[in-house]
Amino acid sequence: MNPSASGLDGVLVAETVLSDVDGEQGRLIIRGFPVEELVERATFEEVCGLMWNGALADKAERETLRAALADARRRAFAMLPSIGDGLRTKDSMEALRTAVGHLRAGEPEEDRVRLAGAMPVFAAAWSRLQANQPAVPPQPSLSHAADSLQMLSGRPPEPSRVRALDSYFCCVVDHGLNASTFAARVVASTGSDLVSAVVAAIGALKGPLHGGAPGPVLDMLDGVGDPARARAWLESELAAGRRIMGMGHRIYRVRDPRAAALERATSVLEQSGIAAERLALARTVEREAERVLGERHPERRLRANVEFYTAVLLDAIGIDRTLFSPMFAASRVVGWCAHVEEQRRVGRLIRPGSKYVGAPA
Ligand code: COA
Repeated sequence: MNPSASGLDGVLVAETVLSDVDGEQGRLIIRGFPVEELVERATFEEVCGLMWNGALADKAERETLRAALADARRRAFAMLPSIGDGLRTKDSMEALRTAVGHLRAGEPEEDRVRLAGAMPVFAAAWSRLQANQPAVPPQPSLSHAADSLQMLSGRPPEPSRVRALDSYFCCVVDHGLNASTFAARVVASTGSDLVSAVVAAIGALKGPLHGGAPGPVLDMLDGVGDPARARAWLESELAAGRRIMGMGHRIYRVRDPRAAALERATSVLEQSGIAAERLALARTVEREAERVLGERHPERRLRANVEFYTAVLLDAIGIDRTLFSPMFAASRVVGWCAHVEEQRRVGRLIRPGSKYVGAPA
């Protein structure tokens, strides 16, 4: 069986206009835009327009999307009582999966807005519940990123943090045929509905090898504590047989361009006096991890991936580490919905084969 046994490395199973990942050059293009450009200047509403309609939303479309997303947040908030105990779990992604499963499937174009609007509402409600605090209602006048922060803290967010969250949302909105997107497309190929496809995608994103790494990255930075201890700490992790979270990627053979984009976005916050120490520590740990992993795997360059600086950025914004994966989902859902739509147009069931190696009859 080839290639790379069951990991399907390099196997093409779809044509897409949504994003292009060049692992050798370290380039990510999202519907014609380099990711760096979106991270620097676009907002969540604009990339919704880009992913769903093919062009960055103009002023009128931005306003329409902003209002539609605000209405979707309001409707998701109204659903909270009916989700009830579904949010009472220690695992934020389990809570998100359960809550999203409560959405009724309807028309795909409405469902994608409802799904995108619901994600930060469910994530914030879960987080407030964990802290024994009442859920904060969404505010329709705020942008999606600003309201995502407002629902977490109950306070009006600072513009620099809103900008940083918009940058993050733009950065991770889509990334080729990653595991969760593939899961969504497989479900869509059966003719099933968008909500089911997104529930499957959330299940895939929950795993530590996909979207679950940034929380552990922050644990790692806490564990290292002092930049002078970085090398010894990393070596002891590897000696214990554990992987260094936030390092390595199935596709990238160079530094993940999203790591660089998010590092830059964090350094903007650093200029306003936020996160300076953490960012300095992260840069040292990254350098040392690259060195230590390079010594162990000279044949394979293991460099920082998106999760490394996701951890630093979201922490700097003031988002708790338990919410990192739901925040990832809050952006990636836009990509999942676009892929489901694209897969529907293909109209063919995805059904690969398997080679029987079991007992003969
Ligand atoms: N730390 C330590 N070793 C690592 C490593 C890491 N972060 N990433 C890969 N390796 C090692 C593997 O153990 C393997 O070594 P071996 O051949 O001696 O067994 C070798 O490098 C090749 O790894 P492989 O598992 O084939 O790479 P992959 O393409 O399947 O893995 C990841 C990609 C992302 C799953 C992997 O790099 C990883 O687990 N990273 C940490 C988790 C993470 O950051 N996930 C977020 C991804 S965006």
